[in-house]
Formats: sequence, structure tokens, C-alpha cells
Amino acid sequence: MVAFTLNGEAQTLDADPEMPLLWAIRDVVGLTGTKFGCGLAQCGACTVHIDGVPTRSCQTAISDIEGASITTIEGLSGKVGETVQAVWAELDVPQCGYCQSGQIMSAAALLAETPKPTDDDIDSAMSGNLCRCATYQRIRTAIHEAANRLEA
Ligand code: FES
Ligand code: FES
Repeated sequence: MVAFTLNGEAQTLDADPEMPLLWAIRDVVGLTGTKFGCGLAQCGACTVHIDGVPTRSCQTAISDIEGASITTIEGLSGKVGETVQAVWAELDVPQCGYCQSGQIMSAAALLAETPKPTDDDIDSAMSGNLCRCATYQRIRTAIHEAANRLEA
């Protein structure tokens, strides 16, 4: 039995402790906003926050999250989370959209830690989030715009 908090609510799972968190989120709990891409911690599609830290849920066993606070795209809230999502929509950042919940989770974590990121900060924080549609320029623009709004 693993107990943790998911999007602010207590959650217990009676499952194989080695089950990847991504499987638990999608297949057991039924929150499908977090995506499966590579399964190898190499694409970022499965990014969630674990105690605020952007983490690849495909390579995180549920036994490693006992007592932790997990946030998925469905639970991303607060000033930073809401601003990032609003800017993403206004600037039409997504193309196919598949990678975008992971992109947003990484962007929100970056802005929570670094309110005024440089291009280098953005490249470094977002380098693990791949986008086959190559929306990278719009992502960078959106992060700068979100930073400006959060500063205002
Ligand atoms: S699915 Fe987890 S990093 Fe690709
Ligand atoms: S928007 Fe299509 S993979 Fe990123």
C-alpha cells in the first residue's frame, strides 16, 4: 500500500510497488492528461511535480513517492500554474498537443523557481521536454510572457 497526495487529495494505492507512477496516474486513478511518450525518461511527456520538482513519472516507482505530494496537469493551480496555462492557450502554443502537458509542468516549475528566466535558463529547464511538432519557439515566447505577467 502506498499513500501520497495527488492534486491535493489523499490517495492510497494497493498496487505493485514497482509500478511506474505514470501507470498509476493514468490507468489506476484515471487522469489521462499526463502522457506516455518514450517510457525511458527521455522525452518529458510524462512530467509531473513531485513536491514541486518536475519529475518523469514513467521512471518513478510508486514505492518512491510514499508521503509525497504529486501534482499533474489536472491539478496545476495557483498563480504560476494558472498564468502559464492561460498564456499557453492565448499564444496557441500547442500543435498536436501531445507533449504539452509535460511542457507546461516543466515551465511552471521553472517559473516557480526562477521568476525571470533568461533564454539560457529556459533552454536548460526545458531541454528534457521534446516536441515532435517543434513548438520550441512558441514555448520560449510563452514562458517569457508568463514571467512578464507574473511580475506585473
Ligand atoms: S514518457 Fe516519460 S520521459 Fe518519455
Ligand atoms: S505539440 Fe506535438 S509533440 Fe509537441
